[in-house]
Amino acid sequence: MAATIIDGKALAAKLKENVSMEAQTLPRKPGLAVVLVGDDPASRVYVTSKRKDCDECGFYSEEYALPASTAQKELLDLVDGLNGREDIDGILVQLPLPKGLDEKEVLLAIDPAKDVDCFHPFNVGKLVIGEPVFQPCTPGGVMEMLKEYGIDPAGKRCVVLGRSNIVGKPMGMLLLHANGTVVTCHSKTPDMAELAASADILVSAVGKTGLVTGDMVKEGAVVIDVAMNRNESGKLCGDVCYGEAAAKASYITPVPGGVGPMTRAMLMKNTLTAAKLHQGL
Ligand code: GUN
Repeated sequence: MAATIIDGKALAAKLKENVSMEAQTLPRKPGLAVVLVGDDPASRVYVTSKRKDCDECGFYSEEYALPASTAQKELLDLVDGLNGREDIDGILVQLPLPKGLDEKEVLLAIDPAKDVDCFHPFNVGKLVIGEPVFQPCTPGGVMEMLKEYGIDPAGKRCVVLGRSNIVGKPMGMLLLHANGTVVTCHSKTPDMAELAASADILVSAVGKTGLVTGDMVKEGAVVIDVAMNRNESGKLCGDVCYGEAAAKASYITPVPGGVGPMTRAMLMKNTLTAAKLHQGL
């Protein structure tokens, strides 16, 4: 039977609509500050879309585009200023930062109550103990997709490919909290293909085109492709060989139109959560 395509674009639009309706009930608009350092073209595209999302949701937004030559102290001072602003509920510093800047120190400088990316060690810790304030955007978006399509990770074997702080690690944690049995594979895993082929829910977040071939997908598995790669002809694609995987999967996410829009929608949801917290709601 053909796989059901998980429509991230449609679900993200629905999520943003709900966020926008709730935002209208607040005494003050949620406010998001996005900081971009340097001129990475992919980051530029992401930042522009975040601004558009804020407009759609009726949020106040500010964008800071700083040159790659920005000093660490300058960036920390900017974050510090934003931490103190009453009209700014969320602060997002787009990663990766240019060489020479200390990413860890910058993330640590963001007020945890404004950490809508859920990257601050305080929020990561809260997530690990099962008391999250914010949902990490990409893994949180994946969990929303599973919920929407009635896929319950409880008792399922969940295999996550990739162990980044942004996706792989928090993804495993959310699946674990949802009572999945989680295996995280990485560059030093010798039997990744076999482990992937044993998954009921397979999440790939490596960033390597063609990584997940059809033989790595179990019949009836749910396949979530988090990656956003460019192939030789510049076309956007994920880690998964889509046709081969779709022939065996029960559910599959496309790239584009899968996880990407959900990440953005979750950022809006987190900014709304932050605004409610800051307004004592
Ligand atoms: N770079 C790639 N993904 C993300 C993200 O979700 N947040 C931030 N701040 N930077 C990123």
